[in-house]
Amino acid sequence: MKKILITGGAGFIGSHVVRLFVNRYEDYQVYNLDKLTYAGNLANLSDIEHMPNYVFVKGDIVDADFVSELFITHQFDAVIHLAAESHVDRSISNPMDFIYTNVVGTANLLNAAKAIWKNSSADHLFYHVSTDEVYGSLHNPDEFFTEQTPYDPQSPYSASKASSDHLVRAYHNTYKLPVVITNCSNNYGPNQFPEKLLPLCINNIRNNKPLPVYGKGENVRDWLYVIDHARAIDTVFHKGKVGETYNIGGFNEWRNIDIVHLLCQVMDKKLGRTAGESAKLITFVTDRAGHDLRYAIDASKIMNELGWKPSLQFEEGLEKTVDWYLTNTNWLESVTSGAYQNYYAQQYK
Ligand code: NAD
Ligand code: DAU
Repeated sequence: MKKILITGGAGFIGSHVVRLFVNRYEDYQVYNLDKLTYAGNLANLSDIEHMPNYVFVKGDIVDADFVSELFITHQFDAVIHLAAESHVDRSISNPMDFIYTNVVGTANLLNAAKAIWKNSSADHLFYHVSTDEVYGSLHNPDEFFTEQTPYDPQSPYSASKASSDHLVRAYHNTYKLPVVITNCSNNYGPNQFPEKLLPLCINNIRNNKPLPVYGKGENVRDWLYVIDHARAIDTVFHKGKVGETYNIGGFNEWRNIDIVHLLCQVMDKKLGRTAGESAKLITFVTDRAGHDLRYAIDASKIMNELGWKPSLQFEEGLEKTVDWYLTNTNWLESVTSGAYQNYYAQQYK
């Protein structure tokens, strides 16, 4: 049985990746290593936690001895590394957590993989899941981020992810560690922590609270449904070329103010409110420091070389997402109250 370590599997994207791998590949033993920070929620995986090919390991990737011991004990064949501090605003108020987890944590995983794969000719892979934010901000409307775009990170979060990408490439160049990197655009969908724009606004509309739009709402993001990102990771894991980078995105750019208006329309319809009611909650607030203007991914390489493409139109994905949050109000309430943090204690006594 192939042993795959997935880090950060209790988080938003990681939980969709773990579910996909556990359900699709019975011959893989999937280990989910997660520290269960505020962003980690094992309830995200309650439907698959009793599957025989799934193992949860609670631990911190910043702890080098723990990580090294884990690799020696389990002799993983491959790693899909998603564990990270992921929220830009938190990186502005508390950058050090990002440097420890995203930079030091990634280096610990690279060292542990290098140590156990040293003399082996087997088919190993260290897959780093990264972000389009490493490329900085686009100012020319005709430009897209390609795999050749120079790195120009602007926030402590994106600088920490850029650092970890550089380390991953350095271990490939120097030690021949078999690596692959993907840089993806903004994800949306079920199980996203309600600090990020879309789930925050969904929750605030439900509760008739203001919808904080930074600056004038003119910043542009490129949105991809999280399950399409998980499908892309599956594709690159199985078909990607070692040493390569693949950009992942939906060719789906929206100004923040426009996406919030669209969300308000969907929410009015779903909640049976009169048209325009939710939009009255929109409130322009002080801009994020160093706010990147526009991200837009050119995803031609993964589409042309590996045959991946998004499965959902954005309007359909947004409606599915709203339906999920309105059906799973218990999930939202346990996350906003903090009660979800008892899940581990109750399930793993
Ligand atoms: P998330 O914040 O929802 O989840 C992160 C997970 O990592 C959590 O379960 C958390 O408990 C775990 N974790 C954090 N620190 C840890 C540590 N020290 N040791 C072990 N586990 C730890 O993040 P997400 O939005 O699912 O993002 C996952 C990955 O994808 C990140 O690497 C992020 O940079 C990248 N990414 C995210 C997006 C996006 O739109 N959310 C887009 C592109 C790339
Ligand atoms: O591009 C990929 C990145 O997308 C990932 O690497 C990050 O992990 C992920 O958090 C996300 O970063 P963003 O900063 O783009 O996502 P966020 O949801 O925080 O913000 C989206 C846009 O909305 C951004 O321009 C800031 C703005 N915003 C955000 C919040 C939370 C607001 O206007 N108001 C808000 O309250």
